[in-house]
Amino acid sequence: MKIGVVGTGYVGIVTGSCLADKGFDVLCFDVDEAKIAAYSKGKSVIYEPGLEDLIKRNLQEGRLNFTTDIRSFIEYAEVIFLCVGTPPLPDGSADLSQVETAVRNIAEYAPPNSYKIIVEKSTVPVGTHKRLQTITRLYNKSKTEFDFVVNSEFLREGSAIGDFLNPDRVVIGLETEKAKEIMLKIYSDFDTERVVVDPASAEIIKYASNSFLAMKISFINTVADLCEKTGADIGKVADGIGFDKRIGRAFLNAGIGYGGSCFPKDVKAFINVLDSQSVESSILKAVESFNRYRPNKIIKILEEELWILKDKDIAVWGLAFKPETDDIREAPSLNVVSSLIERGVNLKLYDPEAKNNFEKLFPESDKLKYATSPMEAIEDTEALIILTEWDEFKKVKPDDIFKAMKLPVVVDGRNVFAETDMIKKGFRYFPIGKGKVFDMMKKTV
Ligand code: UDX
Repeated sequence: MKIGVVGTGYVGIVTGSCLADKGFDVLCFDVDEAKIAAYSKGKSVIYEPGLEDLIKRNLQEGRLNFTTDIRSFIEYAEVIFLCVGTPPLPDGSADLSQVETAVRNIAEYAPPNSYKIIVEKSTVPVGTHKRLQTITRLYNKSKTEFDFVVNSEFLREGSAIGDFLNPDRVVIGLETEKAKEIMLKIYSDFDTERVVVDPASAEIIKYASNSFLAMKISFINTVADLCEKTGADIGKVADGIGFDKRIGRAFLNAGIGYGGSCFPKDVKAFINVLDSQSVESSILKAVESFNRYRPNKIIKILEEELWILKDKDIAVWGLAFKPETDDIREAPSLNVVSSLIERGVNLKLYDPEAKNNFEKLFPESDKLKYATSPMEAIEDTEALIILTEWDEFKKVKPDDIFKAMKLPVVVDGRNVFAETDMIKKGFRYFPIGKGKVFDMMKKTV
């Protein structure tokens, strides 16, 4: 079976290389020539553990190929996975122009009397499959037979390959037996639940899953704030809640809020879908607005502790929206760093992977420097803020941090360190949702 992938962003490149690794012949198309040139040489343009090896191996074995030529791509591919971006428009709805262009091209260039399956892998609003059907009918002049499938992707950055190859479930939304047979063949070698449904249900499953997880995070962060006020411990509370099998412990880690390319975008788009169908959306509006203001918490703690922040030397560890990625899209660091710049802080930033991306938005200046190690970042600073829970940070000894800093103030937005340890060593330590620590900090100032 010949598989085509349109778009070599996160989802596209992972889908293409994993399906090639499963033994399929895969051709990936992108309009971005630089990206295609890099991938054709086995170089990954994103940081994702294991991805470059996977691309190299499948290139060498001839199962994975790349092209910028749309006509030969469409001629080649029998099953075409749409993995193009669906970024948010100013009103929060998904911009589907890349999806539309891809489908229009497929309709126009499909060879006469062929059969193609078009698979929506990108996250799209409910009803998009119907739009794809009509646009294809409109532009196709060569009697191609099309089937449309919704096969949303649930992979997470940083563990994308494992998530793709060992998913909790594969959701397939379709309408014909022919498409069902082919899609089940593609996933025959996956040891997982296959949820075969109608296309609208599949589209809703994706948005609802991401929105539910985002809701879990905003919920636990609300509980964390209560823990801080009442002497309780969010770690223990989350364990206590999470042992209930109906709830589960996953995605109950309190912190400074969710970021990334999916949750913020999908929650906004789902609100938009609900509103457009006149379905009550206040539950998700609360999730979204709570998360938007979540990073302010860091600034509030710092101002309570250090009062005026102007000209103070402050280090930030972690710029990526989560560990094991160089992605800074919607990362809490964007908000925190902007607020600190507004307040005239002298900043030293460190992240093991995301520096290059961050530097494009926040170039070095008199008041903003990038460090090459966590220890270099904290040298002589008056506060350390932790925004991403990289393993590298967990390995730094608190004693060394204490010695290097001018003032031992640590605001830990990801609960990287053990609070008892930090307090014993004499830090002014502010983790998330640890009520006893907050009480102690108030009393000992
Ligand atoms: C997410 C979904 O998990 C994935 O299924 C979907 O396909 C794409 O969106 P991703 O954005 O890569 O994946 O990262 P994820 O690991 O889900 O984390 C998202 C954000 O939530 C991060 O900012 C993370 O720090 C935050 N998070 C996650 C928490 O604050 N607490 C948690 O307990 C879990």
